[in-house]
Amino acid sequence: MKILDMTIGKKYPPFSENLAIFGGSPLFDPPISTSNLYEPSLRRIKDYSARFIDARQYTNNGPLTVELENRLANFHKSKYCIAMANGFWALVLSMKALALPGRTEVIIPSLTYRRMSDAIAWAGLTPHFVDVNRESLAIDVESILSGINGETALILAVHPIINTCEAGKIEYLARQLEIPILFDSVESVYESVDGRKVGSFGDAECFSLHASKLINGFEGGYVTTNSTELAERLKLSRAFGFAEQDEVVVFGTNAKLNEPHAAVALASFDELEVQVQHNERIFRTYLEQSVGICGIDVVRFKPNEPSSFKNILVEINEDFPVDRDLLVWILNSEGILARPYYSPPLHLKTYSYKTIASNAPVSEWAQGRFVLLPSGYRVAVEDVVEIMELIRTISHMSTYDLTLISERWGNRK
Ligand SMILES: Cc1ncc(COP(=O)(O)O)c(C=O)c1O
Repeated sequence: MKILDMTIGKKYPPFSENLAIFGGSPLFDPPISTSNLYEPSLRRIKDYSARFIDARQYTNNGPLTVELENRLANFHKSKYCIAMANGFWALVLSMKALALPGRTEVIIPSLTYRRMSDAIAWAGLTPHFVDVNRESLAIDVESILSGINGETALILAVHPIINTCEAGKIEYLARQLEIPILFDSVESVYESVDGRKVGSFGDAECFSLHASKLINGFEGGYVTTNSTELAERLKLSRAFGFAEQDEVVVFGTNAKLNEPHAAVALASFDELEVQVQHNERIFRTYLEQSVGICGIDVVRFKPNEPSSFKNILVEINEDFPVDRDLLVWILNSEGILARPYYSPPLHLKTYSYKTIASNAPVSEWAQGRFVLLPSGYRVAVEDVVEIMELIRTISHMSTYDLTLISERWGNRK
């Protein structure tokens, strides 16, 4: 690891000369990322795996998949959990099942997961992008109302990366409008909204078990719902729509979760609390280390609701000497794989299918301002101290250093 010259404002030797963008060695090698990549204990994975191997059932609703579904339904306080091959197909199949027949549009926030609109297109529907709330960065009642029209088939409310959307209020609105409501809760597995567990809202909620998520199944996903009818339909549609041998009763696909992935997900689920405690330590360290750095705000978690503290989001404001993109470039070069937060928003991207957009000034304001910093199981407290020391040094950079870096940035583009 390289030792940075921390002498603030010192002109010779300039701080910038140490940076990887000028050929210095990166601060982190190997790099550290924003992906969780939680590794459950191998012994646990083996113990679970022995069960499906003994039963000789590797997929098709095997014993581990059923156990995982029961435990997740219990955890989320929902009646049913239906495991899927991934979060993407959990979304597609839920949308196909829930959308009002004869209508075409799905309302979603513009500031969200980059491939969300593809899931809507795969469901044969048209994304209608709406804005987010400036405080929460989440879809809210007002933004949903801005997109409602005679073609609205479904509302897909997505929880943001930090904290949650107002799920109860949105659920109430959807009931009043008689429009189905689905939540993407991929980033809010552990959260509650006004004391009610995420996973128990709306017509259904979708989750991912991807390696980067809180519960790591390597790949995988699931849907929670209180509707018996929807649960039955999703079970059919994830398995080609087969009710009996060769009797297809709904239009389906192959989106089954297999037993090896269920084994990893169960092992990861067993260790959830250890992870959350680690994540909270990481978050508190970021907060402590950010004190006194001008132009940086670590986005806080709601103090009165449970949180997994999995992601670290930082707002870069006008007082910071470089903009968000330049900062991300410097950090990435140093092996700190920071990522712009949902940038660009979905309504500013190009698509090979039809999309519709309402005005989204907040999403456009947010697109250049927020950055996700390394977090999760693989990041240590000492790493956070190093990262924030670098950011602090950048915040105090001399005009000389700033000019050199800006020139290098300009030449690189
Ligand atoms: C908010 C959100 N929804 C859905 C997905 C898709 O999940 P998966 O990768 O399991 O298909 C992701 C993946 O990152 C996501 O971030």
